[in-house]
Amino acid sequence: MNVILLGPPGAGKGTLAERLVERYGFLHLSTGDILREEVAKGSKLGKLAKGYMEKGELVPDDVILEMVRERLRAADGKGVLFDGFPRTLAQAKGLEEIVSVDHVLFLELSREEVVRRLSARRVCRKCGANYNLITNPPKVPGVCDRCGGELYQRPDDRPEVIARRYEVYQRDSAPLVDYYSRRGLLRRIDASRSPEEVFRQAVEVLGEPI
Ligand code: AP5
Repeated sequence: MNVILLGPPGAGKGTLAERLVERYGFLHLSTGDILREEVAKGSKLGKLAKGYMEKGELVPDDVILEMVRERLRAADGKGVLFDGFPRTLAQAKGLEEIVSVDHVLFLELSREEVVRRLSARRVCRKCGANYNLITNPPKVPGVCDRCGGELYQRPDDRPEVIARRYEVYQRDSAPLVDYYSRRGLLRRIDASRSPEEVFRQAVEVLGEPI
């Protein structure tokens, strides 16, 4: 089973993905995570992606599609959970040529809540765990509960970049809602609910693992 998580920045795609991977054993393919790893490594791809990411713009489609193709070679027949991909119609069409998609979970969240969540997000440098300074703060400020790593604010979680990411989402990614709806693949999830409730809604759509 191949599943896409679609939704605005900060809708909770990464948070839901972690739980779904645990329940269904998906290969988790997050283009944002892969790009951040490449930026941290200082690779050629990372250097190219950094400029786009820090401004809240999308990395070019051909670069993303090549990256996804390469990662899928490691899928080894496993179901794939696409997180933050596809993000444009060109990426969606490119994906269709590689694998078939069974469900698209559309995490719906208002702009106000997107801004609220992303402004308060802190991420662990070491293990990637996510915190929200208001609703889910770490026990010790600046320190990850899970691994003791340092918490930081993603450079693209600054207010002006959040605003741009949302505009780019509306312009380039929101048309995918209609695209997948017409194909009968779109399933709406109320992402304003708690992480547990969002997970429950997703499991209701996907069914229990075989
Ligand atoms: P990417 O990393 O994909 O960022 P995004 O889509 O903007 O998503 P986020 O990671 O910010 O949020 P999320 O939906 O995963 O939410 P999360 O679970 O973290 O992309 C970053 C950049 O890379 C892009 O801007 C672009 O430049 C580039 N890029 C990536 N993919 C690309 C592609 N395909 N094409 C071109 N360019 C690409 O949750 C957010 C916060 O809310 C956390 O603090 C969390 O704890 C909290 N939270 C989560 N769920 C809940 C809940 N139910 N209730 C309350 N709080 C919650």
